[in-house]
Amino acid sequence: MPVAAAEVLVEVDGKIGIVTLNRPQALNALSISVMDAVVEALGGFDRDPSIHAMVLAGLPRAFAAGADIGEMKNITGGAAAEKQLARHLSNWDKIGLLKKPVIAAVSGFALGGGCELAMACDMIIASETAVFGQPEVLIGVIPGAGGTQRLTKAVGKQLSMEMSLTGRKLSAREAFSFGLVNKVVPVESFLSEAKKLAHTIAAQPPLAVQAAKASVREAVDSKLSEGLSFERQSFFRLFDTQDQKEGMKAFSEKRKPVWTGK
Ligand code: HXC
Repeated sequence: MPVAAAEVLVEVDGKIGIVTLNRPQALNALSISVMDAVVEALGGFDRDPSIHAMVLAGLPRAFAAGADIGEMKNITGGAAAEKQLARHLSNWDKIGLLKKPVIAAVSGFALGGGCELAMACDMIIASETAVFGQPEVLIGVIPGAGGTQRLTKAVGKQLSMEMSLTGRKLSAREAFSFGLVNKVVPVESFLSEAKKLAHTIAAQPPLAVQAAKASVREAVDSKLSEGLSFERQSFFRLFDTQDQKEGMKAFSEKRKPVWTGK
């Protein structure tokens, strides 16, 4: 499905490529078409020799409030979830595999798939209003796009457990103190600060930058593929449960879910 016009904006500023999520009415919820367009745009920049670094930005109110719950709520059964969502989820991994550095410019909500998207980038500039979290448990599932793996590697087991098991969210300052983000700046300047960092990187020798990026990635990601595969199978299996149905249905109906543990 082609992305609705202007839901993903793409521009070039000197040697940097900027991709902006622009679906304000749904707090930048990451639909399949939006994620396809994001990966296509970033992949295009990755292959373009005139581009040396990239920025993936959200809007001031939301980087992204998660994967699009509307697209998932009617999926029944782990096999169906895998069939319908496996390619979608692989888009988060593709961002992690880009050769050139990607800086996430995060303001407002970075939840669920949105937090996972920011973490799939190489660095994060956050506005003072940024909120990070993996609240999937509150709608009957778990992070499915790398959250249990990348968050644990970023902030450590204790906090990652608490966030994934309770839905606890982190303020920008907390995220900074736990090493999840590089810098916290006023909301007016989150995008300009991310661009500034991207320009600084783009001024360095590109092959060395890419080699440094690949090496740092290797340090943190060596067992990631196994973890991602484990996480994904667990995520898909949750679509066999009534609580997944109830959680997503309750969200759409704007009421509190009633859990049955089935
Ligand atoms: C679809 C979403 C959405 C989402 C918000 N919206 N998040 N639509 N998918 N993830 C929509 C709402 O339905 C609403 O649409 C509009 O955006 C504004 O949201 P409100 O809830 O009215 O705003 P507010 O009261 O300010 O609350 C903000 C919020 C809340 C706390 C961020 O929207 C929220 O809890 N969102 C869901 C967060 C979440 O559970 N994310 C994880 C998703 S699962 P209408 O039409 O009513 O105005 C996930 C799995 C990842 O990400 C792995 C698989 C790919």
